[in-house]
Amino acid sequence: MEKTFSMIKPDGIQRGLVGEILQRFEKKGIKIAAMKFMMISRELAEKHYTAHKGKVFYDDLIRFITSSPVLAMVFEGEDVINIVRKLAGATSPEAALPGTVRGDYSLDVEYNLIHASDSKESAEREISLFFREEEIINYELITAKWVY
Ligand code: TYD
Repeated sequence: MEKTFSMIKPDGIQRGLVGEILQRFEKKGIKIAAMKFMMISRELAEKHYTAHKGKVFYDDLIRFITSSPVLAMVFEGEDVINIVRKLAGATSPEAALPGTVRGDYSLDVEYNLIHASDSKESAEREISLFFREEEIINYELITAKWVY
């Protein structure tokens, strides 16, 4: 089973969309392996968004992601990296399709509610940035046999 990193960003917390967003992943049958409600330090934000350093939106992005709590999560499932990206929706608001988190609830490229790892490499990197190994829970999800 694959793991991916996802987080509900500060706008999702402030707008009271945590339940709404989480429900989509739960209903899909995706397993929650870890979850942490936290403030992101500047240092962690810079590590997480290192690929964007130097871009025009970088400073605003760091300010935004450190401005209010986030809900950091690890999801587990078959092909879960691609599936969580799909459920999150495209980065730009005009491309994000209805039925996705961003397509349904966001109008802005920066305030786009959710992060989802884009590859196996970034999933591994991001999970280890946000979680210690013992915080990722290995348990049996009894509904899994009705999902797969
Ligand atoms: P990116 O990794 O390209 O998108 P995604 O979150 O869909 O994987 O960009 C990371 C975040 O940077 C994105 O969620 C929002 C922010 N961002 C901007 O603020 N402006 C932009 O033009 C882009 C491309 C991203």
